[in-house]
Amino acid sequence: RRLYDEDISSVLVTEEQVRTKIAEIAEQVAADYSEQCGERSGRETDLVLIGVLKGAVMFMTDFARALPVPVQLEFMAVSSYGSSTSSSGVVRILKDLDRDIAGRHVLIVEDIIDSGLTLNWLMNNLQARSPASLEVVTLLRKPDAIKVDVPVKYVGFDIPNEFVVGYGLDYAERYRDLPYIGTLSPTVYA
Ligand code: PRP
Ligand code: MN
Ligand code: MG
Repeated sequence: RRLYDEDISSVLVTEEQVRTKIAEIAEQVAADYSEQCGERSGRETDLVLIGVLKGAVMFMTDFARALPVPVQLEFMAVSSYGSSTSSSGVVRILKDLDRDIAGRHVLIVEDIIDSGLTLNWLMNNLQARSPASLEVVTLLRKPDAIKVDVPVKYVGFDIPNEFVVGYGLDYAERYRDLPYIGTLSPTVYA
């Protein structure tokens, strides 16, 4: 991964900071869902995590493993960016859920909320499927980039409005495999 080093201007969130934050959020989530999905959880009552591919994949897997309550893992793939660095607001479903979420407690797992357009669209889409509850956990959020206000229950880090990559986040499909989150050098996309 040293090949990437000159493309990253600075490390914004270290591996260690990611790990610590995930443990904190996991503890909070487990406490909040202990009534609905804790003790009496089972095939029909487990908390359902919906990871938004591809960006959320690293966070989803680490978060699920950090949670002390059983969860079921589901994935959706939507795309709003393509290869551009700014949000288009056009959301496409690339892969839908393959299960019904009616009556289930659902937690959407996102890597980042930028404009909020993807999540706003996704929440409306999933709410229409009548889950028992629908909340969002995101590792990163850019408060200065928000275009539509989405109610997000769990936020890892609020970060500046810069283009960031790593830990699932890409620029033109690269850098997802970095174990930390860094700022992309403008020379890369200039
Ligand atoms: C990125 C990111 C979020 C979304 C945030 O996904 O992973 O899902 O954009 O942007 P927004 O708040 O402005 O809508 P992207 O569409 O790049 O797809 P990817 O996860 O496959 O990289
Ligand atoms: Mn994404
Ligand atoms: Mg992307």
